[in-house]
Amino acid sequence: MPVLNYEPLVLSPRREAPKLTPIQEEILALKRERNAVILAHNYQIEAIQQVADYVGDSLGLSYQAQAAQADAILFCGVHFMAETAKIVNPGRTVLLPDLEAGCSLSDSCPAERLAAYKAANPDVYVVAYINCSAGVKALSDVICTSGNAVKIVNQIPADRDILFVPDQNLGQWVSQKTGRKMRLWPGSCYAHVMFTVQAIEKIRSQFPDAPVVAHPECVQAVRDIADEVCSTELMVKFAKETPAERIIVVTESGMLHRLRREVPHKTFIAGPTDTCACNDCRFMKMNTIEKVRDALKTMSPVIDVPEPVRSAALIPIQRMLDWSKR
Ligand code: 13P
Ligand code: SF4
Repeated sequence: MPVLNYEPLVLSPRREAPKLTPIQEEILALKRERNAVILAHNYQIEAIQQVADYVGDSLGLSYQAQAAQADAILFCGVHFMAETAKIVNPGRTVLLPDLEAGCSLSDSCPAERLAAYKAANPDVYVVAYINCSAGVKALSDVICTSGNAVKIVNQIPADRDILFVPDQNLGQWVSQKTGRKMRLWPGSCYAHVMFTVQAIEKIRSQFPDAPVVAHPECVQAVRDIADEVCSTELMVKFAKETPAERIIVVTESGMLHRLRREVPHKTFIAGPTDTCACNDCRFMKMNTIEKVRDALKTMSPVIDVPEPVRSAALIPIQRMLDWSKR
């Protein structure tokens, strides 16, 4: 039964950045010692975002990983993201603070099942959302992120029959935006599907002046009532450009820290579920500040991708990076 009787999570404007703690100072010293760069996804905890050289969405992080010159990339995100960094920049040591930081969406499409599907449907053009394993990327024609999916699909020849993997919700949204019919793999993000119309309507009634911005991994009914649907990076742009002073953010709660840092004079309200005022991704939150310190101390856990898989996976990723700039 839905609960819906929690207090909303509201982050009000903050003028001053919090002071660094001793462990954060230790991380910055280790980073210099190891000649490492720290890349962090928008869903990481605030303490990790504060020590990162770059905080962003999957697309921005892919470009940053490819351009990184440091000896090591400490990737504070989930496994497929660190794997992507290794694929695009194999000469660097890529570290992930916790090897168990996976992704339900990525798990919903094992490479063997996609290979079997392709064997039965050899002409299909596979568009893979970046939230998938290196093995799935190696079987795909082009990769996309939530930030560029519409642009990528619009560039696929009109006569090709598209299979979109693994997120049916993002795929459905892209299909609506592009008018392109696509077969959709039946995967989803366990965290984003927990946002409901009922919970979003309730928070909206409490903050009627606040527009709702939602991630495309949300179900269609939630996307349909949102004022804007976009990737985490585009949420920052939306927050800067909207005249509204308060914004309801329907995605993982780490996003609120990035927004508060980038748009410090506005108020951000977490998108709630039926049972909680905010929504965390349990995989993203496996990375702790202690694990970040330990990864730099021990230079582990290391992410490796077997060379044949890496070179096959690089082709559709590079295609995405090139098409995305057009
Ligand atoms: P973004 O690329 O929009 O940051 O999304 C990544 C992700 O994992 C969303 O759940
Ligand atoms: Fe995967 Fe969802 Fe977590 Fe993003 S929020 S990493 S899609 S499980």
